[in-house]
Amino acid sequence: MNRLVVISNRVAVPKARGAAGAQGGLAGALNSALKKNGGIWFGWSGGECAEFTGDISVRQADGVTTATIDLESQDVEEYYNGYANSTLWPLFHYRIDLAEYHREFGMGYERVNERFAQSVIPLIQPDDIVWVHDYHLIPLGERLRDRGLKNKMGFFLHIPWPPTRLFVSLPFHERLVRTMLHYDLVGFQTTEWLESFLHYCSKELGADVDEATGQISLDGRVTIAKAYPIGIDYDHMMAQCDTDIAREAEQRIITSTRHRTAMIGVDRLDYSKGLPERIDAIGRFFDNYPERVQDLVYIQIAPPSREDIGSYQQIRQLLEQKTGQINGARSEVDLVPIRYVNKGHTLAELAGFYRASKIGLVTPLRDGMNLVAKEYVAAQDPEDPGVLILSRFAGAAQQLQDALLVNPYSGDDVAHAIRVALEMPKEERKARWDKLIQTVREDNVLDWTENFVSDLEAIGEEASLRS
Ligand code: UDP
Ligand code: G6P
Repeated sequence: MNRLVVISNRVAVPKARGAAGAQGGLAGALNSALKKNGGIWFGWSGGECAEFTGDISVRQADGVTTATIDLESQDVEEYYNGYANSTLWPLFHYRIDLAEYHREFGMGYERVNERFAQSVIPLIQPDDIVWVHDYHLIPLGERLRDRGLKNKMGFFLHIPWPPTRLFVSLPFHERLVRTMLHYDLVGFQTTEWLESFLHYCSKELGADVDEATGQISLDGRVTIAKAYPIGIDYDHMMAQCDTDIAREAEQRIITSTRHRTAMIGVDRLDYSKGLPERIDAIGRFFDNYPERVQDLVYIQIAPPSREDIGSYQQIRQLLEQKTGQINGARSEVDLVPIRYVNKGHTLAELAGFYRASKIGLVTPLRDGMNLVAKEYVAAQDPEDPGVLILSRFAGAAQQLQDALLVNPYSGDDVAHAIRVALEMPKEERKARWDKLIQTVREDNVLDWTENFVSDLEAIGEEASLRS
């Protein structure tokens, strides 16, 4: 395998924003990919500087070499909080009501992609495979090609791709997608997002699209688009389960919930995760089955995320309000139905929490993959596994069909699933889990990396006409 140069906005470096638990699925997955394959991981440090210098800070941690740059506060505002997380993120999660379109955001996005290109290019050697990740850096490939880079270059989108009808609400949408066609290979989490992308290229750009192979031809350039559902680092997860930290975390839940069933949710505090709807559904469960209030404790781990953005501040307030209302109405001196924990935990702690919880509730309104669902499955006791309740709108639903699939917008549907999970006999739990764990074990992050990179390596020189 050629050396990998992975480029993403978020890099798993200590002290970066979000490093304390809310760094999300991308950073964990890429960390595993790079540990196995070697190479360099380039991105934003999470830090700010008064004036952009492009100085690169290189570190070696845990077998992974990271190279990071600081950004100016205006960059962070316009590119990260702005275009990436207030324009593209809501739009790509079907929330055009929350999407903001400001000229400065677009300019900041262009500027930072230039800055990434300018800073990373000296690190790239001729035989390296370049792999760019996620919505922050869509135009980076074009910027690198403009600077004469001829390496094989791939892009992976960790979040959904919206239907054409929504996507065209983005000003300059054509320009953005044309930049994507400078990569040799473009990957999506599911076939649904892939199909939406191919539809857009054909209908809006007039590209020649072969749906069977994912080949897109436009202006003499060829790009392959394909679905590569991401997985967890299964071996690493199992190693985390087998630690004292995990065992202690498991005991903390078991002793504090005593004879009641623990049900858990673990989500960055993001409106895509459907948290207020989930709390409403739990309220509905208590309304519909008041005799079961004594039986259940819901534990919501919700580390704050993107805290400078108004829509994230609002979702936090709403969640606190809804949790407070249910606890106010349903608590007794010795019983609090919902535990809302507004901080992040390590994977080892989560492993213990997952295992102690007989129900895992993962109900995003729209999500690229949702690795938490797979981690929950991996952490279960094979002899007495818990039940995963999973939104049909999570990317993971395509692979985890043996979970209890629900419509997260329907409180009654989720409430009913909680009831079914509480009462599910052990044989059925085991039968479902046996199938779930097979996918989680086999479709892991190392296979994901290998599949993507070997496809990229196999793309012939003739695949893209690089000038
Ligand atoms: N996570 C964590 N600590 C926490 C909460 C979450 O380490 O307190 C990790 C979790 O283990 C998972 C990732 O963050 O690996 C979340 O990934 P997912 O794909 O579920 O959602 P994302 O946050 O990327 O949207
Ligand atoms: C999602 C995105 C990632 C992002 C992560 C955490 O997983 O796909 O690109 O890194 O959320 O978000 P943050 O804004 O803290 O990097």
